[in-house]
Amino acid sequence: MVISQYFLLNQWDSVVSATSVIGLQWGDEAKGKIVDLLSEQHEIVVRYLGGNNAGHTVKFDGKTYKLSLLPAGVLNPNVTSVITGGVVINPKAFLKEMASIVEQNGPIEASRLLISDRAHVIFPYHMQEEVIFENSRKEKAIGTTMRGIGTCYRDKAGRTHAIRMGDLVRPDFFRSRLEEIVPYKNKMFQSLDPESEPLSVDAIYEEYSGYAETLKPHVVDTSAYLLKAVDEKRKILFEGAQGSLLDIDHGTFPYVTSSNSSGCGIHNGSGVSERYIDKMIGVVKAYTTRVGGGPFVTELHDEIGQRIRDVGNEYGTVTGRPRRCGWFDAVATRYGANISGVDCIAVMLLDVLSGLDELKICEAYDVNGTQVTDFPSHILDLEQAKPVYRSIPGWKEDITGIRRMEDLPENAIAYIKAVEEIIGKPVEIVSVGPDREQTILLK
Ligand code: GDP
Ligand code: IMO
Ligand code: MG
Repeated sequence: MVISQYFLLNQWDSVVSATSVIGLQWGDEAKGKIVDLLSEQHEIVVRYLGGNNAGHTVKFDGKTYKLSLLPAGVLNPNVTSVITGGVVINPKAFLKEMASIVEQNGPIEASRLLISDRAHVIFPYHMQEEVIFENSRKEKAIGTTMRGIGTCYRDKAGRTHAIRMGDLVRPDFFRSRLEEIVPYKNKMFQSLDPESEPLSVDAIYEEYSGYAETLKPHVVDTSAYLLKAVDEKRKILFEGAQGSLLDIDHGTFPYVTSSNSSGCGIHNGSGVSERYIDKMIGVVKAYTTRVGGGPFVTELHDEIGQRIRDVGNEYGTVTGRPRRCGWFDAVATRYGANISGVDCIAVMLLDVLSGLDELKICEAYDVNGTQVTDFPSHILDLEQAKPVYRSIPGWKEDITGIRRMEDLPENAIAYIKAVEEIIGKPVEIVSVGPDREQTILLK
C-alpha cells in the first residue's frame, strides 16, 4: 500500500462518482496504471470494449501485473470488476489470465468479477479467418493482434453467425447455434484455403461447454447491474482499452480496431450513458507510439526513436512487437481529446524523455503545401501529412523520484504547459515511472 499517493489522492478532489479513463492516442498510453491508482477511490471498475487485444501493465509493491481481458480493478479486493456486452471474450484466454492473476494476487470470487451475458464470444475460427484476411492485404495489412477481435465483431454486426455469453451458458441453444454456424464457416474456409482442416461441431462444443461451466457463475446482465449502481450513486470507474485514434468510426480507418475505442464507446459498450460520468480523464504518453500498420506523422526512424523505444521499453504487452515511436503529435491527440470529450489530461512516461537535448511537439500538419491543425479524416491525406514542430529544450535530470510539479526541472514544466496549451485541456496527472507511487497529482 502506497500511503503517500493515496493520501494525496484523497486530497485530490477530482475523483467523483463516475470517472472514465480513455487513451487519446493509438493505445498503450498507460491507462492501466491510472485505472489501478484510481480504483482505490471506486467500488466498480468496468471494461466496456475490445478483448484480449489490450495489454495493461500495472506495477505496485515491487510486483508487475499484466492484464488483457480482466479489468485492472481485479487487483483490488474491494472492487467489483465488470466486463460488459461491448467486450468480445475469448473464454480460454480469460481463464488463463484469471488463473495467473489468482496465483499472483489471491482468489477472485465470482461476485467480484461479472461478465455480461451480452458479450460476444471469440471462437478458434475467428482467429483462423483473421490470419487469412490479414495475409491477403500483404504490405497493407492492418497489423492486428490476431486475437480474432475484428472477426468476432464482424459476426456480431452480421448477427447470423454470432454467439454471446448468454448463449454459451445454455447448452442446447449453444449446440444448435454451432450446428447452424460451423457448416458455413467450413464452406468459407474450404473456398479460401482448400488445405484447411474442417472444423468439428463436436470438438468446439465439448471444449467451450467446459469453459461455460466454469464461467457460468460470473455471467449476469451487467447493464442492469450498472444501471442499479448508477441509481445508488456507487462509484464507478470506466477503464478504456485501445485508444481514441484506433476507434472504428473516428480513428485512422482502416488501421483501427473494430470497436469504439474513444470515449464514444462508453455508452454503447456498457449501457451507461456518458451523462452519468462526472469526470473523463484522457491519458497520453509524453511522446507517441503505435503498434501495427497505418500512418504515423511524427514517427522517428532514427536513433532518438530507438532511444525512446529502449528507455520506455516500448514492446507490446500482448504480442511483444516493437512499438513504433515518435514525437508527441498534438494534432492527433487534440482530436482524440475532443472526440472523447475529456475534461483533463494525464501525461504519462515523462521520465522517458529525460536526457534528450531537444524535444519536439507537432502542432500542425503540412498536407500538400497547406498547413492544417484539424486531423485529416482520410488515410491518403494523413499519409501525405508532414509534421510542423514546436521545439522545446530538454532536461538532463532523472525525474523518476519527483512527486511534486514544482520540483520538476523548468524545461519539463514548460513541456507539460505546452501540451496543455495545444491540447486545450488541463494536465491533472503527470507520471514519472511505472510504479503507482511515481505519480504527480496536480490541482
Ligand atoms: P495501457 O495499455 O494504456 O495500459 O499501457 P501499457 O501497459 O500497454 O503500456 C504502458 C507501459 O508503460 C507499461 O509497461 C507501464 O508499466 C509503463 N509505465 C506506465 N507509466 C509509466 C511512466 O510514467 N514511466 C515509465 N517509464 N513507464 C511507465
Ligand atoms: P491497449 O488497451 C495498442 C492495435 C493493433 C492493430 C489494430 C487492430 O493495450 O492500449 P485488433 O487486434 O484490435 O484488430 O488490431 O489495433 N491495437 C492496439 N494497439 N494498444 C492496444 O490496446 C491495442 N489493441 C489493438 O496493434 O494495429
Ligand atoms: Mg497496452
